[in-house]
Amino acid sequence: MNKSALETVKLSRQFQSGEEVLTILDEVDLKITSGQTMSIVGASGSGKSTFLHLLAGLDKPNSGKILWQGEDIWQWSSQTMGVRRNQTIGFVYQFHHLMTDLSALENVALPLWIRRLPVKEAHEKATEILAEVGLSQRRFHYPSQLSGGERQRVALARALVTEPKCILADEPTGNLDSENAKIVFHLLLQKVLEKNIALVVVTHDLSLAYRCEHQYRLMKGKFELER
Ligand SMILES: Nc1ncnc2c1ncn2[C@@H]1O[C@H](COP(=O)(O)OP(=O)(O)OP(=O)(O)O)[C@@H](O)[C@H]1O
Ligand SMILES: [Mg+2]
Repeated sequence: MNKSALETVKLSRQFQSGEEVLTILDEVDLKITSGQTMSIVGASGSGKSTFLHLLAGLDKPNSGKILWQGEDIWQWSSQTMGVRRNQTIGFVYQFHHLMTDLSALENVALPLWIRRLPVKEAHEKATEILAEVGLSQRRFHYPSQLSGGERQRVALARALVTEPKCILADEPTGNLDSENAKIVFHLLLQKVLEKNIALVVVTHDLSLAYRCEHQYRLMKGKFELER
């Protein structure tokens, strides 16, 4: 059976707002298989980040399921969830979330240290991935010594280094000028296709969203095909 990398089954998330209940996601059924790319656009507050956090197992749904390669993630202990997340998901944020006191190389190696990979091996892998995103000559720079586009490429390398099944990216180019946004977005697409990784990316830039195979708009708790 060809299991999807990620799947949601009647996924719902509500938030209490005073007396009112806000339904942010309303019984969402979605499937994404290896090598598929999916973009999500939607108004501010429509629930895009909430959806990515649910997909990553960082937030718990009120009802419905999230499956990683066919397995219901909320059946696991929190310890198992942590280990499986490290193996399955790479996350890229709008504001990179790099550690300011670690070099580019150390930032990229960090998820491998967490895996308890020997330091030498972790640094070799990190060096390799940094070369793939064109940053060999910046690997000893600290985040404050990198340009915005370079920082996002380091964040991308950090997401790729664990060889995840899926990359979840929340406005990964939202903080960049349009030229750098294009470069980073295209690099992200190139890498996921090359490595057969599933991609779910939130962006407000339609020209970038349209580069993905599937384009959705999140509206009133439901996903609609954008075009
Ligand atoms: N922990 C929470 N408690 C209450 N409400 C929340 C919580 N997290 C998110 N929300 C609400 O859920 C809605 C969706 O938030 P979310 O951050 O997912 O939006 P978004 O589509 O990512 O928006 P943006 O484009 O501005 O990043 C918002 O109205 C927000 O106020
Ligand atoms: Mg958001």
